[in-house]
Amino acid sequence: MNPAQGFDRLAGLYRGLELLAFGRELERARFALLPQLQYCRHILVLGDGDGRGLQQLVALNPTAEYDCLDLSPVMLSHARQRLAATPHNIRFQEADILTATLPDRHFDAVVTCFFLDCFDADTAAGVVAIIAASLAPDARWLWADFAVPAHGPARARARLWLATLYFFFRWQTGIKARTLPPSEALIAAAGFAPIATASRQWGLLRSVVFQATAA
Ligand SMILES: C[S@@+](CC[C@H](N)C(=O)[O-])C[C@H]1O[C@@H](n2cnc3c(N)ncnc32)[C@H](O)[C@@H]1O
Repeated sequence: MNPAQGFDRLAGLYRGLELLAFGRELERARFALLPQLQYCRHILVLGDGDGRGLQQLVALNPTAEYDCLDLSPVMLSHARQRLAATPHNIRFQEADILTATLPDRHFDAVVTCFFLDCFDADTAAGVVAIIAASLAPDARWLWADFAVPAHGPARARARLWLATLYFFFRWQTGIKARTLPPSEALIAAAGFAPIATASRQWGLLRSVVFQATAA
């Protein structure tokens, strides 16, 4: 199975499964730092799935232009339906980030929530480079994802959750990744510094807004 088919199959169940496993905690992680993008004008939203993050962002910043790119046509159709009653300026694009053509130095913000975790470390490094090339010199990057705390019971708990989640997503979607890529380090190495952070679930969930340091 390829990941597009896998995420298509999961699309209708995705929210229910998430609520069953984590309640509203993933939503809180996604939404916590969205106000940091309130004044951005051209926003790239990657792998947003069923459109819940996008819906919140459009409510906060209704006049921005959005490019919403996802591999899964069914996820995109859920997102379209979710936004159908809201006036917006969103271009939905069905594409694989690994082969997509993005404009150079165009977007002043990008959102990657629970997206970079779909890739192994080497592929995630390539994805970060592709994204970084599409961002303007003063861009912000909103990233939210799972994380593994440095030590203690929280670390053991996170490792257990991640083993379960990777087993499930590899089985259901065909992604190749087995562990989290070092996303925060990759984004920092691409020239971005954190300006706001939030942590939930004893460090299992992290949200960070990065600012390009070239500005
Ligand atoms: C784990 S889901 C995360 C959905 C949502 N962002 C969230 O916060 O839960 C990953 C999303 O990224 C999309 N995706 C996975 N690999 C992709 C790729 N190579 N290019 C574009 N989208 C991809 C999937 O279709 C799915 O919608």
